[in-house]
Amino acid sequence: MDRIICKNYDEVSLLGAAMVAKVVKSNPRAVLGLATGSTPVGMYKRLVEMHKRDGLDFSMIRTFNLDEYYPIKKANDQSYDYFMRDNLFSHINIKQENIHLPNGECADPAAECAAYEAMLNQAGGVDIQVLGIGVNGHIGFNEPAEELQLPTHLTGLTASTIEANARFFESIEQVPTQALTMGMGTIMKARSILLLITGENKAPVVKKLFDRVVTTEVPASFLTLHPDVTVLLDEAAASLL
Ligand code: PGA
Repeated sequence: MDRIICKNYDEVSLLGAAMVAKVVKSNPRAVLGLATGSTPVGMYKRLVEMHKRDGLDFSMIRTFNLDEYYPIKKANDQSYDYFMRDNLFSHINIKQENIHLPNGECADPAAECAAYEAMLNQAGGVDIQVLGIGVNGHIGFNEPAEELQLPTHLTGLTASTIEANARFFESIEQVPTQALTMGMGTIMKARSILLLITGENKAPVVKKLFDRVVTTEVPASFLTLHPDVTVLLDEAAASLL
């Protein structure tokens, strides 16, 4: 894993956007794997700026998001579908038919997950996968557990994640307790991975990530086995290294 320590959140956002833009420019039909959460918001702002100011072209770009709550309506302002439209898709020239997220409104989660995985394979796989990390080491909604699932699947959220995400909801009871998520195998198949980590609250998990140990208790630790991972950190997240 390559590790780049930036001064602050803005620098992480700028450098992350530059790395995604490089992929978009070198392959106009690239497949981007995208993430939600507070960490990538600044990077998406920069990409929107690059589109508006410099004409960065998303007209043939395809995207697959990591995960979505289940069940949740797309119109719910806490759905990841809403988040992606609000933070990125509504502001760039991406085609609706090229946007993919697991469908939180589906009736049959198992069928939805299988179809999502098949669609991603048919698109040729992910060129660059953007990731955040949970304070508990999750990536997507692959939560610490004795076993980790390989393909896209329906999963329960841990208490730690429900608590971490409650800040976006009116009350903790409103946080969905399940999600559809790319599995560890789906994520590891991406040709390159860009992991963004900012803030002091992530410093303990960053320390574990660079412990040279792979454990299902820190799902992100499996990324150390991937040949092309860049970790962009701010100084606060790197403070225990
Ligand atoms: P955050 O979430 O960016 O809001 O910290 C990251 C994650 O849970 O993957």
